[in-house]
Amino acid sequence: MAEATGLQVTGLESGYDRLRVLHGVGVRVAPGELVAVIGANGAGKSTLLRSVSGLLRPRAGTVMLNGHDITTASAEQIAARGLAHVPENRLVFPSLTVDDNLSLGGWTRRRDGRFAERRSHALELFPRLADRINLAAGALSGGEQQMLAMARALMAAPSVVVLDEPSLGLAPRVVGEIISTLARLRDRDNLAVLLVEQNVRAAFGVADRVLVMDRGRVVADGTPAELADDERVRAAYLGAGASSSSSTGVSSSSSTGVSSSASSPSSSAVAAVSGGNQETEEENR
Ligand SMILES: Nc1ncnc2c1ncn2[C@@H]1O[C@H](COP(=O)(O)OP(=O)(O)OP(=O)(O)O)[C@@H](O)[C@H]1O
Ligand SMILES: [Mg+2]
Repeated sequence: MAEATGLQVTGLESGYDRLRVLHGVGVRVAPGELVAVIGANGAGKSTLLRSVSGLLRPRAGTVMLNGHDITTASAEQIAARGLAHVPENRLVFPSLTVDDNLSLGGWTRRRDGRFAERRSHALELFPRLADRINLAAGALSGGEQQMLAMARALMAAPSVVVLDEPSLGLAPRVVGEIISTLARLRDRDNLAVLLVEQNVRAAFGVADRVLVMDRGRVVADGTPAELADDERVRAAYLGAGASSSSSTGVSSSSSTGVSSSASSPSSSAVAAVSGGNQETEEENR
């Protein structure tokens, strides 16, 4: 048997009604590892996360979490086993305070006596939340709401965290904060992190491995260094059927990526795609 910890997805097929979206996707994330998933709009990235966290029931394949087969488990059972899903659009409860949002995140673990410890750990990771602890979540900026969504997920004491485009629509500085917090969770808390991230520069800057998805399949899997010049990165990002010619018209300016990562990529493929992000909406502070 392979390693029993972290997340192992094999041959995953999933979809909606008659629409088949995932065609045999495989992903492995070990504790202390961050795997980024990139790919064009509609490639199936969110569907992959939903299928892993029990929001969508896979049609075939297996999902193993810390040695347990969770393929057909409910979202509640999967959360209780230690997988936290931070969905897109930061679903915080806007009329509840920051503190109450955190309390709800810790609900499933309320009997283990470690609530206060986890709360202070989450607030230490996101000091901005500590300053706003009694504010309604709906009053927070977009970046702060993303931090709250992450902090709330951590209150459930997960060993595996999957995140869907946490940087979407945020200013570069906030993206940097969020990405470096993920690196800290990986390195200090030994979490297994599966990150769907359209900001290719940010993804390559933090990931141990990058998966490229295209039309429901993983078409490339490697370290950022291995994939830095890979044409599939550009092709998959630009969308289904993008040709491998260089006349793509994508500008390499106006990157929304983080700039100061130790392993920041400088390759042509990454430079070419990182300017393709649509989101430049500034944080409303
Ligand atoms: N709830 C749903 N019902 C029906 N079809 C859906 C649903 N959600 C997604 N789809 C379809 O499944 C396919 C994959 O969608 P998915 O959201 O997984 O892509 P994605 O890679 O996350 O894209 P994006 O980068 O735009 O977030 C798309 O064709 C989409 O239209
Ligand atoms: Mg998506």
